Amino acid sequence: MKFTTILSALALGAFSQLASAAPAPAAHQARDVWDPLMTYPTAETVWQSGQTYTVTWETEDAPVNITNGDGGFIILRSGDEETSVLLAWDIHLRDGQAQVTAPNVITGNFSLVLFGDSGNWGPNFLINGPVTF
Ligand SMILES: *[C@@H]1O[C@H](CO)[C@@H](O)[C@H](O)[C@H]1NC(C)=O
Ligand SMILES: *[C@@H]1O[C@H](CO)[C@@H](O)[C@H](O)[C@H]1NC(C)=O
Repeated sequence: MKFTTILSALALGAFSQLASAAPAPAAHQARDVWDPLMTYPTAETVWQSGQTYTVTWETEDAPVNITNGDGGFIILRSGDEETSVLLAWDIHLRDGQAQVTAPNVITGNFSLVLFGDSGNWGPNFLINGPVTF
């Protein structure tokens, strides 16, 4: 029972950390838990479903040792919800970039979340999908 409580408390803590991460963090300091600042896509970006794009993020502030290693993945975020749509995985955070194919979506605004040490999302941008309402 106690163990479960601790786990939920941890889960909640992790969640509120995600929820409180600013969409466009201004100050990025080198520290062990590193959440790289996404530099592309930007708010002006427009993607077409099925096309390939290169997502980029800053790596200058990467700590010498990244707490949970260099591996990461990118998912799609819709509104305030993180989806289970994986756009890239087995990526290396130190590369500062990853190739992504724009998913098939109903045309709308989405953002991307780069997961490594922690989750960090970029701005909303438009994806033109095969269906528009
Ligand atoms: C990074 O990790 C290596 C190997 O564990 C260790 O020797 C080194 O002191 C660490 N450096 C920093 C800045 O934490
Ligand atoms: C996407 O967001 C922009 C800026 O908020 C808005 O003008 C536009 O209507 C949105 N597009 C769709 C398809 O929701």
